Amino acid sequence: MTQGKSRVFSGIQPSGELHIGNYLGAIRNWVALTEEYECIYCIVDLHAVTVPYEPAELPGRIRELAIGLLASGVDPERCTLFVQSAVPEHTELAWLLNTVTPLGELSRMTQFKDKSDRVDTVNAGLLNYPVLQAADILLYLADRVPVGEDQVQHLELTREIARRWNGRFGDYFPEPQALTGGGKRILGLDGMSKMSKSQNNTIPLLADEEDLWSVLRMAVTDPARVRREDPGNPDVCNVFTLHGHFSSTEERAEIDVLCRTAGIGCVDCKRRLTANMAEHLAPIRDSAEDLRANPDRVTEILDEGARRARAIASVTVAEVRDRMGIARRSP
Ligand code: TYM
Repeated sequence: MTQGKSRVFSGIQPSGELHIGNYLGAIRNWVALTEEYECIYCIVDLHAVTVPYEPAELPGRIRELAIGLLASGVDPERCTLFVQSAVPEHTELAWLLNTVTPLGELSRMTQFKDKSDRVDTVNAGLLNYPVLQAADILLYLADRVPVGEDQVQHLELTREIARRWNGRFGDYFPEPQALTGGGKRILGLDGMSKMSKSQNNTIPLLADEEDLWSVLRMAVTDPARVRREDPGNPDVCNVFTLHGHFSSTEERAEIDVLCRTAGIGCVDCKRRLTANMAEHLAPIRDSAEDLRANPDRVTEILDEGARRARAIASVTVAEVRDRMGIARRSP
């Protein structure tokens, strides 16, 4: 690996607008890690087609996601950013890893169970999803994987797949560690479930103040606080938790007291959060606007990323084929 640094790999699906959960749970950490590690970040379009989607919309989603990541500070000078389907070795390795993956483990994955409950027909891609994720990571022999807590189980399976493959074909793959970087599970507007595109409870990352207000005004606060004059409990309020990410320590301490003494109502508390969030996110929004005006630059970054990724991926697949006794590709 370059200059003996550990290698970091992570991925994100182009399955909808980037949201605050992605940003706080993963992307901020992606950016910070580029200071210390060799980082490879991937827009995983082949994962996104395991659930119903609109083919005509996918290219635009990939591009918007790339713009959102770059605008959030993912710097192509300091890391590799590319689209998964541009590097066919991902699917080749996924197939080979399927052969050492226990079916029982796949069917026990929480995300598989959640997602398969929501569709009429469960396709095999949904079940094999974590094998492709393992291939993404192992293809680059990455040893660290920054993710939100919801992905920790998939990382455990990746380690298990690496162990099994190494046990059968000889030590090669490192067992990668999840880096959750203190990024907890960010809850959605309902204040109960994980913020997620599929739950329809997200706060978009690239929204302006007006759009932020239109979603934040619906956010669920302390459910026990029914009337304005009731005291609230910030400890159980997701709006207060979000203040922790976007408001100053002083303002947070002030709101804590005001909420407990019914000195501030939930609407005003949400208005303050909206203003602070909009201010914090303004540079990201501006930078996204600039990138939208320069589509060739975005294409160039993703093409260069895919070239760099492929140079690493092809070496891994050649080694894996060799150890598995699979014929070389014809020249
Ligand atoms: P995805 O696209 O759902 O989410 C991208 C990243 O955002 C994190 N995240 C959250 N963190 C905290 N709170 C939330 N509410 C929240 N919502 C999303 C996710 O944990 C993730 O880090 N299977 C992966 C994509 C993937 C991948 C990989 C990740 C494919 N291959 C290889 C790492 C390595 C996924 O669906 O992420």
